[in-house]
Amino acid sequence: MDIEGLDIDKEIGKVGKVICEHDKKKGLLIPILHRIQEDYGYLPGEALERLSKKLDLPLAEIYAVASFYHQFHFSPRGKKIVRVCMGTACHVRGAGKVLEKLQERFKIEVGETTEDLTMTLETVGCVGCCGLAPVVTVNDDVVGELTQKKMEGLIKMIEEEGE
Ligand code: FES
Repeated sequence: MDIEGLDIDKEIGKVGKVICEHDKKKGLLIPILHRIQEDYGYLPGEALERLSKKLDLPLAEIYAVASFYHQFHFSPRGKKIVRVCMGTACHVRGAGKVLEKLQERFKIEVGETTEDLTMTLETVGCVGCCGLAPVVTVNDDVVGELTQKKMEGLIKMIEEEGE
């Protein structure tokens, strides 16, 4: 093929435009994912499919981006996000028992959500309140010095949320 009439700037420009549009869409993706998660509490599959069509981005690419960030979730979350601190101080002061008790009482494993969406159970590294060990966080609140009695109060508070 004769390349005498080749306009290299034009060729680069075409690709540059494509890259630019693709980057623009990718730049929009994360704020949109945040909005969806704010509205629904997680990223419903159907919402991602619709987003894929709207932005003309492959669904796999959207999932790859969303999976990269731990703050995005692909299944419904509980009203209370309970995180048991498994840092050293909490571990030494009985975090394992705290976790066990929550698992038994709500019949879920770490990473799961109760069927009625009352609570999601997670573990976390040190939350910086080692003096209060053992510690759990409930949404943004820290509940520390979890004695047996305090555990009962915590469980009751979570259960009431589901009623
Ligand atoms: S180890 Fe649990 S708060 Fe530091």
